[in-house]
Amino acid sequence: MCGIVGYVGKQKAAAIILEGLKRLEYRGYDSAGVCVLQAGKLDVAKKAGRVEVLVKEAARHKFTGTSGIGHTRWATHGGVTDANAHPHVSSDGKLALIHNGVIENYAGMKKFLAGKGYTFKSETDTEALCNLIAYHYAKEPAPKNGGSRFLESVRKALRHVEGTYGIAVLCADCPDEIVAARKASPLVLGVGDQEYILASDAAAIVSRTQNVVYLKDGELVHITPRAFAISTLDQADVSPVVDTITWKVGDADLNGYAHFMEKEIFEQPQALENTMRGRFAEDGSTAQFGGLNLSAAEFRQIDRLLFCACGSAWHACLVAEHLVESFARVPVEVDYASEFRYRNVPLDRNTLCWVISQSGETIDTLAALREAKRKGHRVLAINNVVGSTIAREADGGVYQHVGPEIGVASTKAFTSQLLLGAMIALYIARMRDMSFSDGVQYVQSLKGAPDLVRTVLKQAPKIRKIAKKYAKHADFLFLGRLSLFPVALEGALKLKEISYIHAEGYPTAEMKHGPIALVSEQCPSVFLVPKGDVFNKIVSSMQEIKARKGPIIAVVTAGSEIPPGVADEVIPIPDCHPAVLPIVATIPVQLLSYYIALERGCDVDKPRNLAKSVTVE
Ligand code: G6P
Repeated sequence: MCGIVGYVGKQKAAAIILEGLKRLEYRGYDSAGVCVLQAGKLDVAKKAGRVEVLVKEAARHKFTGTSGIGHTRWATHGGVTDANAHPHVSSDGKLALIHNGVIENYAGMKKFLAGKGYTFKSETDTEALCNLIAYHYAKEPAPKNGGSRFLESVRKALRHVEGTYGIAVLCADCPDEIVAARKASPLVLGVGDQEYILASDAAAIVSRTQNVVYLKDGELVHITPRAFAISTLDQADVSPVVDTITWKVGDADLNGYAHFMEKEIFEQPQALENTMRGRFAEDGSTAQFGGLNLSAAEFRQIDRLLFCACGSAWHACLVAEHLVESFARVPVEVDYASEFRYRNVPLDRNTLCWVISQSGETIDTLAALREAKRKGHRVLAINNVVGSTIAREADGGVYQHVGPEIGVASTKAFTSQLLLGAMIALYIARMRDMSFSDGVQYVQSLKGAPDLVRTVLKQAPKIRKIAKKYAKHADFLFLGRLSLFPVALEGALKLKEISYIHAEGYPTAEMKHGPIALVSEQCPSVFLVPKGDVFNKIVSSMQEIKARKGPIIAVVTAGSEIPPGVADEVIPIPDCHPAVLPIVATIPVQLLSYYIALERGCDVDKPRNLAKSVTVE
């Protein structure tokens, strides 16, 4: 939540910051602001609304300075107003601050600072921190041994902070300098050619440089025109490690698509190929992973798995549970990360914990990881964003390699997580009871998944027509059984997220125990109908809906015949291996949600009230 950008270099800072904010808008988009240091003054433009609104406002300021900071906000403390937008300037005019996170003890700070004569213009927690830095700056003695009064005042203030932050600070007395710091909110420093660009995410940096330093919790960076130096809250120097971002700026562009969500849905075949690449053993019968940091012998000792995540990633955990239990015969528990962290779950020694998070920054998932580690458990992670906090704090893990996912509603990252869950199930199964030939068949099926997804994507025009027909309905049910129950949950979540339609995902047979009360001509049901043991049972459930005049959209595997007159719409999907089925069945529900949202005129990539990366509790 909230995106932050900072720039120090030879170019005009404002244009670079505004461009960076556009790329970070998925992190929050209710207001935005920029502050440029010019002629010894902190010049701020900030507005409620999208970055486009800020661009117009900034044009009036005619910014020319070569250092500045900018912010795109997802409100936590204080409503969506110009005054609450960041940057905030201290009441003595000396310091400007942008912040991603929550200052939990801001009320006490404000009281203390008000007593010292500092004043406040906003309702935010951030302004309290800004004034606290100003307070320390005013008191800070002249620096000894070439030290920086600016840096030390930020350090002193941060020692009093309870909560989370990614911050960047400008000081009116220090041209071309920024001090930035992080605790639980991401911060990446791009090291360019005679310039530095700081951001919450590499997406805002990659157009200027691919060389980056990922700051760690408790670290501060002091940027000056010629250098940068990293140190800790305890004043210890840190040697920076410069990494290279593997993706390029075009990866985060629309490339002709109308929305990132559309682009990311259609990118899924390639994304799945990238997720699998190099991850099958030479004999073609199992998966292999380079970064688990756990030997095969250690894996064999495990007698229980725990998966934790939030949102779509939690649905991916539920599919992983089904596949691991079915194929590897190892018991699995799935928990919402936000519940796990407070539930005091009893875990035994041979439980292996996994966390799944596209961004690698979701605060609840990070807290779940830390809680499991605190209890002495090994925690592995599935992440997409390389160098993210969760990726760095986990004991090992697997990267998804699907490139940047910008649309707030997860699509390609979700199906890639389903694929990795299926590969983990295979990996463990082959250590236990799965035969060589079943392993080979499983691997061949996974390798065929991208082509099956391509086949389903070809039905987009048909799904669009269905979407048009049902877009005005106010309630939807999504029903699936076994591994497709989580896909039903995901379908309902997608529809809620981007088209604001009330939708519920249920295990098909449970529909009789409550949701059937909603069924009427006005409430369509989306059934996920695979071939197999439960096919006839699902058809019976469909009959029960039909008897109550509920419209039915059925996603049906090839070779299954739904009796005439039962389904109003049929979307066929290819018959496939059970490990691939959840991936293939996800595509129609993604497309349906996307096209319904378009019909309703919704802002697909930036749905109201949501943010892609939830870094506050
Ligand atoms: C937010 C996003 C969801 C996402 C969830 C978990 O709610 O809107 O699309 O599934 O966070 O995100 P993560 O980055 O941890 O996978």
